[in-house]
Amino acid sequence: MQRWKRTHFCGTLRPEHIGQQVILNGWVHRSRDHGGLIFIDLRDRSGLVQVVFDPSTAPQAHAVAETVRAEYVLAVEGTVRRRPEGLENPKLATGEIEVLVSDVEVLNTCRPLPFQISDENLNVDESLRLRYRYLDLRRPEMFYRLELRHKVVNLIRQFLNERGFIEVETPILIKSTPEGARDYLVPSRLYPGHFYALPQSPQQLKQLLMVAGVERYYQIAKCFRDEDTRADRQPEFTQLDLEMSFVEQEDILQLIEELTVFVVESVSSKKMIKPWPRLTYDEAMARYGTDKPDLRFGLELVDLSPVLANTQAQIFRSVLDNGGQVKAIRIPGGAQYSRKDLDEITEFARRFGAKGLATIQWMETGVRSPIAKFLTGEEIASIRHATEAQEGDMVAIVADQPKVVANVLSRLRNEFGKRLGLLDPNMLAFCWIVDFPLVEWNEEEGRWDPMHHPFTMPHPEDLPLLDTDPARVRASCYDVVCNGVEWASGSIRIHRRDIQQKVFRLLNYSEEETQARFGHMLEAFEYGAPPHGGIAPGIDRLVMFLTDDENIREVIAFPKTATAQDLLFGAPAPVDEKQLRELHLRVVLPEQKKGA
Ligand code: AMO
Repeated sequence: MQRWKRTHFCGTLRPEHIGQQVILNGWVHRSRDHGGLIFIDLRDRSGLVQVVFDPSTAPQAHAVAETVRAEYVLAVEGTVRRRPEGLENPKLATGEIEVLVSDVEVLNTCRPLPFQISDENLNVDESLRLRYRYLDLRRPEMFYRLELRHKVVNLIRQFLNERGFIEVETPILIKSTPEGARDYLVPSRLYPGHFYALPQSPQQLKQLLMVAGVERYYQIAKCFRDEDTRADRQPEFTQLDLEMSFVEQEDILQLIEELTVFVVESVSSKKMIKPWPRLTYDEAMARYGTDKPDLRFGLELVDLSPVLANTQAQIFRSVLDNGGQVKAIRIPGGAQYSRKDLDEITEFARRFGAKGLATIQWMETGVRSPIAKFLTGEEIASIRHATEAQEGDMVAIVADQPKVVANVLSRLRNEFGKRLGLLDPNMLAFCWIVDFPLVEWNEEEGRWDPMHHPFTMPHPEDLPLLDTDPARVRASCYDVVCNGVEWASGSIRIHRRDIQQKVFRLLNYSEEETQARFGHMLEAFEYGAPPHGGIAPGIDRLVMFLTDDENIREVIAFPKTATAQDLLFGAPAPVDEKQLRELHLRVVLPEQKKGA
């Protein structure tokens, strides 16, 4: 084997190597027989180089080259030479040179491929890519992603290590952690009927590390959540999990912003709004209708309720009298939309809960609006003024309960941001959302749910409201949002048993339930727990932002499908009877699957 030890990587050869004897290892990317000369693009992870087999100078090597096919693994020995004039390939980093082969060895052959390994025309069914992921990952673009991810994690470690953080591994086999998703469970062999849960995040463990006096902890942590997958969600994903003692919210915000700017600027030329804008939850809801606003563009929501306070238009009057809201967004250039376009936009709004959508278009010829007849001229002028609509624009108005208004208008806003080309592809618009409510009312189950998780500290000055008006208690809790996607979540934690118990009581956890699920945490808090707080940004999502990928699977080496399967291993899969017996389990299939 030593004979074929490479001297250079394929993609690194340049004119300065001309005349040198080199040994290369790699895969046959493409092979072309030009009647006599055979040209092979040899590929390793650094890139491609053209190697030439000439029957007159190396007949044996040429004979071997005649037999090779795509993705054969070769070692070649040869001399670097300048390509003949006019035959350079400016698209290739190695395009000025080629290697004239003197000797070759086929290190391995390759079966006919299920798909061509090429970044161009990647018109391959994704399930095939996932089934043969090891071939898919041979594509330079995929290697680029893996390498970028590696660099990102390295930079994070470097940044935090320099600031006195230590990385601590926490267990994967633990007990259910309340992050709001379903747990993945692992049956115990030694304790019949008992289960471990895989961590939805190391939340409790990192808090216990603070009680342990670690003070500055981080971990590149695998988290597991059995929830429906989405374009930016996987059942198994990675967080930068971080926790600090003796800090305030401001310390964590500054640290994370500095860390992110350092990482993003080290590996990309993406622009950010600096310093990151900070919005309170109430402000984000009022201006964007969502706590995940995309700040790459404006089109903010405008509250028309004051403008229409005295309106006699029934569609608005009835809503305002019933505690509802009337809000609008301006759609630049929207006056050109036809009746049919407006029907389609209304249908879009209906899908997100709107009962209807009122529009006003300011055309050259005047106002066009199905609701004009219900409004006074003054009201229409006030709407125009409030929304800053120009001639040629349109205003879309939703009147409903605040939740519906926010949902519909935020969806419309995002949709028109996209349609109107307002999403700068080179912008990562990070922002902070702060001052979330501590709890929200769960209508269906008739109880308070935590907005973040039950360990979040209420704002100190709102503590008295816990007993009187829980909805108004603000949490010391913060999210990072980037381009409309939640990227990180964190909070200052409760470190005192009395407050923690109060919150558990508010959340309607019974004493027994609290004791069974969190007894260990409450106990730990009684042994000198320091004030502490932390955050967890998603690593997969950060890499997605950097690569402009729309699907999280592209940035994970071996991801699960949208239906949570691993197509390469064929997981999940049945196990044999013996394993089930050892685990004291019996499988009861759902009715329709019996005998399947
Ligand atoms: P949270 O549940 O908000 O907070 O998660 C934090 C961040 O993790 C990423 N994330 C995901 N990424 C991919 N697939 C998923 N299924 C998925 N779920 C979450 C997101 C998200 O913003 N323990 C707390 C953090 C803390 O308080 O310190 C937590 O896990 O980027």
